[in-house]
Amino acid sequence: MTDTHNGRQLTSTLQENGTLVLAIRDHDAGAPGADEVVIQVEATPINPSDLGMLLAAGDIDSAERHGEETHLKVAPGVVAAMQGRVGQAMVVGNEGAGTVIAAGESSEAQSLLGRTVAGLGGGMYAQFRRLPLAQCLVLNEGTTAAQGASCFVNPLTALGMVETMRLEGHKALIHTAAASNLGQMLVKICAADGVALINVVRRPEQAQLLRDLGAEYVVDTSRPDADEVLTDAITATDATLAFDATGGGDMADRLLAGMERALMRAGGEFILDSGRHDHRRLAAPVIFVDALHGPTLAGFELPA
Ligand SMILES: NC(=O)c1ccc[n+]([C@@H]2O[C@H](COP(=O)([O-])OP(=O)(O)OC[C@H]3O[C@@H](n4cnc5c(N)ncnc54)[C@H](OP(=O)(O)O)[C@@H]3O)[C@@H](O)[C@H]2O)c1
Repeated sequence: MTDTHNGRQLTSTLQENGTLVLAIRDHDAGAPGADEVVIQVEATPINPSDLGMLLAAGDIDSAERHGEETHLKVAPGVVAAMQGRVGQAMVVGNEGAGTVIAAGESSEAQSLLGRTVAGLGGGMYAQFRRLPLAQCLVLNEGTTAAQGASCFVNPLTALGMVETMRLEGHKALIHTAAASNLGQMLVKICAADGVALINVVRRPEQAQLLRDLGAEYVVDTSRPDADEVLTDAITATDATLAFDATGGGDMADRLLAGMERALMRAGGEFILDSGRHDHRRLAAPVIFVDALHGPTLAGFELPA
């Protein structure tokens, strides 16, 4: 077994002067440990979270080629907020799939030689990636790397949303930007599990797409009656948990106000404590938990 697996890997380096450097560099994935494999990466998706690491909120219109590198400008405030990564060549790509070309000495690792596996672990925008077995999922015979490359980030998040709903004792879910890849998965999971789901989208064609998948409650915010439709859906489902993928803007307010109106219709009492939770400032997906005991906002992060 060779000790080196030399290939190329995409890196993203934010410099203190506000220049983001994207480069494809030589990279040795190294030799697998006993319970590790080396994957020849054949497919890897670009998730929104990958773009965050890749572009560091840089100005895409400022992109310029400098030899083998691409440079982007990043605003000073963003550089200040991302001090933890300044000067470091960050590897990119949360998940992907490919063929196992080398395996450690354990029998489980050896059994994966030649198999197509999906992997989660960062640094997947590379030709070769070494990963522990525990971060690999063996794909069924006949499943291609492209078909299995998105096995983790969105599926685990969609399942995590439904599981959170159950653990927190809610009856139904609200999901925004719901025509997303993740949202379409959630529609199917909720249908299979008999969970009521309110899908919030921003265009009529997105509403139609979800209805075609079988979604029962769809709120299209481009319509003037969107807040009324939202309140009706919350009243019908008793949804007290929302996952907002948009962050910022007025969506958090609209969802909370919809819950409040639905609760008032039912004769309940609902007090918004906007002093304690400034949800307008949250830029990540948030959860509003427990309308009975007061709204709570929290981040919802799938660690990769
Ligand atoms: N927290 C976690 O652990 C976790 C894990 C996975 C995914 N996520 C998040 O879940 C979301 C969906 O991910 P995905 O991979 O499924 O994305 P995707 O397929 O690329 O879909 C993105 C969707 O967001 C919509 N959108 C974008 N900006 C919007 C805005 N300002 N207002 C309303 N809708 C907007 C887009 O609609 P248009 O076509 O109209 O632009 C599109 O339907 C992302 O926000 C992602 O970051 C979070």
